[in-house]
Amino acid sequence: MNVPKLTSTSAKSMDCLGISKLQALFRGKTTRKGEYKRAKEGATVLCPFLASPPSVLDAVLKLTDKKLNSDSLFYDLGCGDGQILIGVAKMTNARCVGIDISEILCATARRRAREAGVEDRVNVRVGDLAELSLDDEEPTALFAFLVPSCLMVLSKSIFRRLKTGTFLILYKFPLPTEDGWTPITEMIVDDAVKAGAQASVFLYIV
Ligand SMILES: C[S@@+](CC[C@H](N)C(=O)[O-])C[C@H]1O[C@@H](n2cnc3c(N)ncnc32)[C@H](O)[C@@H]1O
Repeated sequence: MNVPKLTSTSAKSMDCLGISKLQALFRGKTTRKGEYKRAKEGATVLCPFLASPPSVLDAVLKLTDKKLNSDSLFYDLGCGDGQILIGVAKMTNARCVGIDISEILCATARRRAREAGVEDRVNVRVGDLAELSLDDEEPTALFAFLVPSCLMVLSKSIFRRLKTGTFLILYKFPLPTEDGWTPITEMIVDDAVKAGAQASVFLYIV
């Protein structure tokens, strides 16, 4: 079987972070300034992989309030193993695009989309979010479960450039209110980091 190898850059970046640092990142115990510096200094892996719990998919579907259909374009920025993409494609028939730095996670997401019978609706690309432009796309909704430093980078390069009315759905980490981002609403769901704890899914409408 031809399984793509994790690129040396991403593998190294993951290793360098270490488990305790990853946990600190997800628990918000590192300063935003420190994370932003790390992101700007060119750490290719801007956020470690951790899958959203199933309650996050339910929240995404509820928050988009049946506005996703076969004419919609849904993005998961840092799609991991594709479970949100696959769930959205199955439940709404939307076209779903996932982008992730990890070739292995992208291969897993594609395989899972095939197994779920939604490969015609799900397109998974290996790519670096730091270099992504959606200027030529018109997404209906974007989802991301990324640490604050990464969201800050995307806020300037992508989120601010989305067309009016685009749904932006963030799990666990919101965008900074001091930058003018206020969620329309939020839903309480399970926390991906700590069993039994709760976290939020935030909805913004651009
Ligand atoms: C917390 S996981 C979220 C996975 C998935 N969206 C979910 O909710 O289940 C963050 C993902 O971002 C990806 N990632 C980190 N840095 C990235 C970058 N620079 N470009 C693209 N993806 C990146 C990681 O590989 C990881 O899969």
